[in-house]
Amino acid sequence: MAVAKKPAVAKPKAKTAAPKTAPSKLKGDGLSINTSVDRGAREKVAEALTKAVADSYTLYVKTLGVHWNVQGGNFYGLHKLTDEQYNELHQAADEIAERIRALGKLVPTGGETFRALTVIDNEAPHGTTPQMIKQLVLDNETVARRMSEFAELAEEAGDLFTHDMLVARIGVHEQNAWMLRSSLGE
Ligand SMILES: [Fe+2]
Repeated sequence: MAVAKKPAVAKPKAKTAAPKTAPSKLKGDGLSINTSVDRGAREKVAEALTKAVADSYTLYVKTLGVHWNVQGGNFYGLHKLTDEQYNELHQAADEIAERIRALGKLVPTGGETFRALTVIDNEAPHGTTPQMIKQLVLDNETVARRMSEFAELAEEAGDLFTHDMLVARIGVHEQNAWMLRSSLGE
């Protein structure tokens, strides 16, 4: 006859002695961050980057919509130009989002959240082709100014990597605006 097993009795856990030295880098559920950017600065820069990612992502969606809906004599040129621009914006949004993670913060996601954070007021314009292209010119210029503001903030916070990344974004948005404007003959 089988003998019923006695339920295992948990042994009392041995008390761990309080550390006598300063706590190591290990705390909570992971490693604390000890990079070139201090904690307060990381918070500030990451907050600015949430707006930068929302702007880039929203402009990506908007440029994609224009890519689909352009028509007219310059259809192919505008279709190709907006193709290059929306792909680049998509990649940029990803890079900005990943910088937020490297700074130790979570990235906001979702259309509604982005709409609350972005400076772009209408992500799905419908109009004539020149109207839609003009709108993208204005949006790229607006985003370039925002990137400039955020780049200065990053520099003041001592986050050189983010500063450089955002300075590069100014150049891309200004180039986008120039190419779109020129395609209208302006
Ligand atoms: Fe396409």
